[in-house]
Amino acid sequence: MKNFNNGFFPSMLFLLICLVYSGLANDPFSHSHSLKTESEDREAKISVTKLSLKQFSKKEWKLKQDQLIEKIRKNKVRFEVTYNNKTAVKDAVISLKQTKPFFLLGCAMNFRILQSEGYRKWFASRFAITSFTNEMKWYTTEKVRGQENYTAADSMLKFAEENDILVRGHTVLWDDPKMQPSWVENIKDPEDVRNVTLNRINSVMKRYKGKLTGWDVVNENLHWDYFEKMLGVNASSRFYNLAYKLDPDVTLFVNEYNTIENPGEVTATPVKVKDKMEEILAYQGNENIKGAIGAQGHFSPIQPNLAYMRSALDTLGSLGLPVWITELDMPKCPNQAKYIEEILREVYSHPAVEGIIIFAGPEVSGFDKLTLADKDFNITETGDVIDKLLKEWHQKTSDIPNIFMVDHENEEEDVSLLHGLYNVNVSHPQIKNFSTSLRLEVTKEMGPRQVVRVVINA
Ligand SMILES: *[C@@H]1O[C@H](CO)[C@@H](O)[C@H](O)[C@H]1NC(C)=O
Ligand SMILES: *[C@@H]1O[C@H](CO)[C@@H](O)[C@H](O)[C@H]1NC(C)=O
Ligand SMILES: *[C@@H]1O[C@H](CO)[C@@H](O)[C@H](O)[C@H]1NC(C)=O
Ligand SMILES: *[C@@H]1O[C@H](CO)[C@@H](O)[C@H](O)[C@H]1NC(C)=O
Ligand SMILES: *[C@@H]1O[C@H](CO)[C@@H](O)[C@H](O)[C@H]1NC(C)=O
Ligand SMILES: *[C@@H]1O[C@H](CO)[C@@H](O)[C@H](O)[C@H]1NC(C)=O
Ligand SMILES: *[C@@H]1O[C@H](CO)[C@@H](O)[C@H](O)[C@H]1NC(C)=O
Repeated sequence: MKNFNNGFFPSMLFLLICLVYSGLANDPFSHSHSLKTESEDREAKISVTKLSLKQFSKKEWKLKQDQLIEKIRKNKVRFEVTYNNKTAVKDAVISLKQTKPFFLLGCAMNFRILQSEGYRKWFASRFAITSFTNEMKWYTTEKVRGQENYTAADSMLKFAEENDILVRGHTVLWDDPKMQPSWVENIKDPEDVRNVTLNRINSVMKRYKGKLTGWDVVNENLHWDYFEKMLGVNASSRFYNLAYKLDPDVTLFVNEYNTIENPGEVTATPVKVKDKMEEILAYQGNENIKGAIGAQGHFSPIQPNLAYMRSALDTLGSLGLPVWITELDMPKCPNQAKYIEEILREVYSHPAVEGIIIFAGPEVSGFDKLTLADKDFNITETGDVIDKLLKEWHQKTSDIPNIFMVDHENEEEDVSLLHGLYNVNVSHPQIKNFSTSLRLEVTKEMGPRQVVRVVINA
């Protein structure tokens, strides 16, 4: 060991990651597929509701959620530190720190963040992804025809970039006739509408190319059809095509409301949203689009129907594309904090869901449904829920046993880690010079169990 020094010695170390797959055949939740009735029968929603009430108690439901979370958000990892003659390095100490979680619980923001230092601090200390409520919308950036103004959006993007916060773009276009810039609403000539719309797409997408994690392209194009009426039945598909050509790497979302939050919905049902995504991807030239589905999640102030949510997410997830909850909120009500927590846990336990953005903020932000902190930035009850889940969904360093005795036989030495990026230090209490660090990526692609071998070339 005499050549070891503090620090990193690439020549003395190599890292071997073995994938040890042990299939999880006995899926404790496989009967949830019995809830997946909607794809075959659009009228089956009522029976889904009944099924949930009869079959599961709250406690059982929670237990199943936890089992799913363990399975879909974490991997078992085993560390083995050996000499190159395969003998274990006795008493090696391994410490880990998650530098980046892969599942993101983010929060929308609005222009008031530019005016409030407190809002900025509150935000940056919590969230790693955001979207802007109105600042990127057409009616904000081009209030007057031909006079584009991206000042607010640019400043917010700068704040996000400076604080390592990812930004999801919302929205290139909006299919609601009442949500066009007022001067657009007054245009009668379809060719003119076409011209100004193409200009809008080009302008906003070129401006933010490479800077966003995703874009809502034609927001709410199941509920509304402004562009289809003006420009023909394939208008949305053509706009997704243009968006793809302008920024081929960015994820392009279909984004709708009532899809997971309202069992009585008839327009943007899970099946119809899924079909819309398929229709867009099937359009000529769109086959390579990185598609994703956004379910806004504007819930009513009543007990959420978790069984319906799960079946809805099953349907949306059946395309194999990422599903995001993009605008989660609920009006204030006595059980708001409890309901919000139930919704978030349900979403987190669904394998198709890759991230969540809540429509919320401190009082100064003006988000008046989910108010997470009061005017002095004291945390509210709903704020506590969000902070608790943010903590729970990040791997805490203190969670990880600090010392793993290297013992090839003992399965209890496996550690269960949330997906993410980690910094790992390997050291030894007696051999002061023995110390090295490495970066580890824990992903679902690596299978349920991986072995990380650190071989010391002594
Ligand atoms: C530790 O490193 C120092 C120099 O950095 C060296 O003098 C010493 O022999 C080393 N000790 C061991 C146990 O390798
Ligand atoms: C393996 O190598 C280590 C370090 O060089 C040494 O201490 C140990 O005795 C070796 N074990 C065997 C079985 O050769
Ligand atoms: C690894 O060691 C470095 C240098 O001593 C330290 O700054 C860092 O916090 C350690 N990381 C972990 C995960 O223990
Ligand atoms: C552009 O927008 C910013 C912020 O919203 C505003 O302060 C500014 O006056 C606008 N500029 C023009 C020329 O309207
Ligand atoms: C639309 O744009 C085309 C090409 O720039 C132009 O020739 C045409 O006159 C425009 N149509 C209207 C109605 O402004
Ligand atoms: C719309 O797109 C579909 C699928 O590509 C195509 O079959 C159909 O002819 C198009 N309709 C119009 C009016 O362009
Ligand atoms: C809010 O926080 C401040 C300090 O940050 C404290 O003095 C005050 O008592 C708190 N108010 C409430 C209502 O908890």
